[in-house]
Amino acid sequence: MGRLSGHKVHYVDADILVIGGGFGGCGAVYESRYWGRDMKIVLVEKANIERSGAVAHGLSAINCYIGLRTNENSPEDFVRYARGDLMGLVREDLVFDIARHVDATVHKFEEWGLPIMKDEQTGRYLREGRWQIMIHGESYKPIIAEVARKSASLVYNRVMVTHLLMDKRRPDRVAGAVGFSVRDGAFYVFRAKAVIVGAGGASHIYRPRSAGEGMGRTWYAPWSSASAYGLLIPTGAKMIQMENKIVLARFKDGYGPVGAWFLLLKCYATNALGEKYEARRFAEIKALVGRYADLKPMPTCLRNHAMLEEMKAGHGPIYMHTEAVLDTPEKEKIGWEDFLDMTIGQAVVWAAQNIDPRERPSELITSEPYVMGSHATCSGAWASGPEDCAPADYRWGYNRMTTVSGLFGAGDTIGGSAHKFSSGSFTEGRLAGKSAVQYVQDLKEDLPEIDESEVQGLAAKVFRPLDTYRVGRNEIVAGTVAPTYISPLQGLLRLEKLMDEYVGGYTSYYVTNEHLLNRAVELLALLREDLESIGAEDLHQLQRAWELHHRVLTAEAVTRHTLFRQETRWPGYYYRADHPRLNDSAWHVFTASEYNARTGDWHMSKLPVHHIIS
Ligand code: FAD
Ligand code: ADX
Repeated sequence: MGRLSGHKVHYVDADILVIGGGFGGCGAVYESRYWGRDMKIVLVEKANIERSGAVAHGLSAINCYIGLRTNENSPEDFVRYARGDLMGLVREDLVFDIARHVDATVHKFEEWGLPIMKDEQTGRYLREGRWQIMIHGESYKPIIAEVARKSASLVYNRVMVTHLLMDKRRPDRVAGAVGFSVRDGAFYVFRAKAVIVGAGGASHIYRPRSAGEGMGRTWYAPWSSASAYGLLIPTGAKMIQMENKIVLARFKDGYGPVGAWFLLLKCYATNALGEKYEARRFAEIKALVGRYADLKPMPTCLRNHAMLEEMKAGHGPIYMHTEAVLDTPEKEKIGWEDFLDMTIGQAVVWAAQNIDPRERPSELITSEPYVMGSHATCSGAWASGPEDCAPADYRWGYNRMTTVSGLFGAGDTIGGSAHKFSSGSFTEGRLAGKSAVQYVQDLKEDLPEIDESEVQGLAAKVFRPLDTYRVGRNEIVAGTVAPTYISPLQGLLRLEKLMDEYVGGYTSYYVTNEHLLNRAVELLALLREDLESIGAEDLHQLQRAWELHHRVLTAEAVTRHTLFRQETRWPGYYYRADHPRLNDSAWHVFTASEYNARTGDWHMSKLPVHHIIS
């Protein structure tokens, strides 16, 4: 063990390096071990896989389960559903690939100890809705983590990956990654033949509704810090649909999810006047988006749109009528457990505000936007598809490999395939793991090599915020405002404010236009300049600093894509006021970007949407 930039350095060699031990990452480790019996499979995680990622707190449903063995649905049906919900634009090959394998994953989860609710009459899994099943999921993450722990050769917890490393001889091939331990400050250099990124989506890119003392309260986990994108973008990996950010209808203040209420408990929402506004606004929505309004269920963004129009018309608050459906102790139990398993804060809101859901309706509201590839949106990397069903131009190598050779992804990382959720993300990890093993086997003697001088440069860069703080703090006597550095929190608040005000956050009812977006590009450039002078007082703040770097780069991708797509494809997620209509003749395409880290240029393009399922 040597030292770099004054810090201990550990070199770790791996056949396959998995970054992020969430649902995609755990699936990747599990499947890599199955196909690569003798391979060295290393998992690196910034928290502790036992309770890390978006499922840290548990879930009350698995939102992607087809029901193949009970003939409930077919994979083709699922593709039609995901395509409709995304207003026509998904990678059908990727969605199909998940749909045909996801049930096997869920059966494994049950075998590993996850309690899945059963329908007493049919003996089948209890359906929440057509695609969702109910679970007792408080311990969902520890159950999945145990499998990854048993499959991996080594697990490094509390090591945050900051950068990917490219091959010394081939700049389009990955060779590893670097990061630091949040516990002891050691620098880690991972040398790998293949890398799978499962580092999760992004909260806190936009100003959250909960501010001040409540700012950690968001729907997507506050620790989902955009690394899935922030790690990939500097490598030049092609990204798609970064403008396709998600806004969610949620129980107000606690961000409680609505699925179990709408679908299982058959609850309904009204405006303050008691009117069922979705039905009333149907003709108006149809005039806006045409045939997409007829889809069943109505696409998620359009349901948001109806709610937003009501609020703008002054008909708020919007109410979820829990009191109309909680008429048996069983239903009441499901209602409370839904939140206690998944979003405890919502149950706390009920308790703290004396709301008995059997007696009073609860307010609903739309959230701030998040950047994700696994829910009802599909931002992420452009990936090679499966060999048996991907159209020729969707396939250039191994399944789930990005445009960078040897760099794979899963879950929020991979774009174009929405509605994966927890089970689909794990399944995608499995698919990526299987092909990464094949990739490594095919490499034979042609192995990637890291560039030592690059590693040395990165070591200095990664720890610089500690030095910046150490020197800069002498210039202040009290408080947090310093002339020569900004803190990670100051940088974060600045990012959230500018994204909210210029790139369609909640304070502008998600509206933006070319002028606002161009100004956002300028302000982001200034913010990035100031990030060179970010100060970190300890290792935790150093982690916040690098999370912020990942968030800012992701925010820039969101802004560039939003600028590029000159239409309003998903009313309810965001609006281009200067292009207020959906325009299928020009924009029935994916938007793509490639970032050049050397010049700072973004290359934007359109990619075709092929429909392979009728
Ligand atoms: P994650 O599971 O978030 O994993 C990312 C991992 O990467 C984390 O462990 C993180 O710590 C780690 N990481 C991040 N950055 C770095 C870095 N730089 N270095 C090292 N490690 C890093 N799905 C359902 O199926 N049903 C539901 O009912 C449901 N409800 C949800 C409710 C809530 C409140 C939330 C937040 C999510 C819900 N989901 C649900 C969605 C589901 O959680 C996600 O789709 C899924 O977790 C995405 O998987 P992932 O692997 O991409 O990300
Ligand atoms: S969760 O990810 O936090 O669980 P949520 O509870 O909103 O989100 O959604 C769970 C599932 O129900 C998702 O598959 C979502 O698309 C679906 N869903 C939520 N509300 C509705 C609705 N009104 N109609 C149809 N599907 C819905």
